[in-house]
Amino acid sequence: MSNTVFLNGGFLPQEQAFVPVMDRGFIFGDGVYEVIPVYGGRLFRLDEHLQRLQHSLDCVRLANPMTHAEWADILQRLVRENGDGEQSVYLQVTRGHAPRDHAFPLDAKPTIFISSAPLKPVATELLKNGVAAITLEDIRWKYCHIKAIALLPNILLRQQAIDAEAQEAILIRDGVVTEGAARNVLIVTEGVIKTPHKGPFLLPGITRDLVLELAATHGLAHEECRFGPETLARAEEIWLTSSTRELVSVTRLDGKPVGGGRPGAVWQQMYTLYQGYKQALIAGAVE
Ligand code: PDD
Repeated sequence: MSNTVFLNGGFLPQEQAFVPVMDRGFIFGDGVYEVIPVYGGRLFRLDEHLQRLQHSLDCVRLANPMTHAEWADILQRLVRENGDGEQSVYLQVTRGHAPRDHAFPLDAKPTIFISSAPLKPVATELLKNGVAAITLEDIRWKYCHIKAIALLPNILLRQQAIDAEAQEAILIRDGVVTEGAARNVLIVTEGVIKTPHKGPFLLPGITRDLVLELAATHGLAHEECRFGPETLARAEEIWLTSSTRELVSVTRLDGKPVGGGRPGAVWQQMYTLYQGYKQALIAGAVE
């Protein structure tokens, strides 16, 4: 697969794409991002991703440098340049380059960068057996609903999970489960799918929303509610969602089996619905 990127108005090979060192993304992590999966050359839930981008930009007071139609056109072109099929598109907007000063620069132009990588399917082994997770205190800032590129706390938390031979950290803030280091968290208790309410302490995941939408369409009991680590520890099933890893089941939490220690029946049902939705997208039956 060729590797073309988009940088500030033009398409070019990734090796030729450079950003000035004084870019506020590099200096301050002053920017926002999106990750959009692509199946069969089609951008998955594009409108939802662009709406969340607008929300993140509004929250950090950065004017959207392009219209919805311009984003859609450029993203689709990049996907085509990189050979369609299954891709993971990364886009980032920073406040541009300017002399280092915490105050917003008056005349900097935002930096727009878009790249794409092959989207690897989740390993069959992980789907069959589920993954391990550990719980950690949520040490991130208080604006986790902004998809900000300042991800140092998330990186530290994810690495702690990897060091404990787990795939994800499930975060707890003031006794309440929020989300994973880079995924949303859902549980199943007494057959009901539950996930924390949206709010400042978690990213409003596009995949999470789709899973709730599929639950509603197919009559699966679900609710948004607060729950703590004890409820999490007793859950029949624990799921993690994200654009790149889709929907995986956690089968070990803090070293103990979750439910029967195997991906559960409700996960299996939802996973099938999710794959069905993807196929409908590839066939052009849904947006
Ligand atoms: N991360 N929560 C956090 C903190 C995340 O970083 C992500 C996704 C999610 C899931 O959101 P979505 O379903 O819209 O992908 C939840 C992306 C994939 C990343 O940083 O690579």
